[in-house]
Amino acid sequence: MNEITDQYGRTFKTLRVSLLSRCNLGCVYCSLADDKIKNNPVPENLMAVDDLLQLIERIHSAVQLETIRLTGGEPLLYPDLIQVISGLKAIGISEIKLTTNGFLLERMAMAMRLAGMKSINVSLDAMDEDIFFLMSKRNDVQRILQGIETAVAAGLEVKINTVLMKGINDSQLVPLLEYAFEKRITIRFLEIMAMGHLHQQSGKYLFTQQEILDVIQARYEFSRLERSNSSTSNYWQTKQGNLFGIIANESEPFCHDCNRLRLDSHGNIYGCLSNNHPISLNGVNNIQFREKLLEALLQKQSVRFTGSELSMLNIGG
Ligand code: 5AD
Repeated sequence: MNEITDQYGRTFKTLRVSLLSRCNLGCVYCSLADDKIKNNPVPENLMAVDDLLQLIERIHSAVQLETIRLTGGEPLLYPDLIQVISGLKAIGISEIKLTTNGFLLERMAMAMRLAGMKSINVSLDAMDEDIFFLMSKRNDVQRILQGIETAVAAGLEVKINTVLMKGINDSQLVPLLEYAFEKRITIRFLEIMAMGHLHQQSGKYLFTQQEILDVIQARYEFSRLERSNSSTSNYWQTKQGNLFGIIANESEPFCHDCNRLRLDSHGNIYGCLSNNHPISLNGVNNIQFREKLLEALLQKQSVRFTGSELSMLNIGG
């Protein structure tokens, strides 16, 4: 069957599945500070696991996925997570990954690894407990560090994701970098994206790629690595061999070769984070199915992310 592709030659190779829209943290860029209830809405009417897996299998046969990343909300809150991982393995997905806030990681890491999970990204925005609270409305950085270290010991590849917000947690850049280097874990700093309630005002929090490099340059010598196709992250390697990355949505947008498709747990797909128009795959026949995938592909921006009222809580990272 002919490939689903757009005028820029983009195709779908990575599927990000938002398993639920609940989260046990209340990060400032994701949810409103005084609106914690939004992170814990009444139980959602989610698809049954078998239906979800069948839908993913159908997408896989249409576009030959290479990677699936499980997200949320917080995917470790999803009761059938292990079943989903084994199911994806059975479908023949070779790269199964996940993005988590790490809170429940210590108890879940080994089971995820055994079910077929390959690598995880752990979001961590501060080493300092007070600043962590400012960012996430929760305490207990130690618990997340414990989760990270347990995951590494279980054989999972681990990366740390840090969203930097000017004036709020930019002081944490160096402590987080040093922790990651000491543990030989790759860390990536994210420029803040204009999503959710920050939609119109993320600019004032933007800590740019250049500002990040300036801070690191004062302490380490490093050189830039070549960007691999469809990567969101730019990478650098220090003289000592440590890797760090920057996801520079604003400074160096990467839409031109984006290969990501998003699916939520209600059977809707999205071709782009900038476009919050859901496309439902429920009840569509095989011809319509390909049309819907193409429709999603055409949602992609040509150059850069243009902002969205949706927050990552709803659509996953
Ligand atoms: N801007 C930048 N990064 C964000 N994330 C969630 N919301 C935003 C935003 N508005 C991050 C999460 C996670 C990753 C997938 O995206 O912290 O690490």
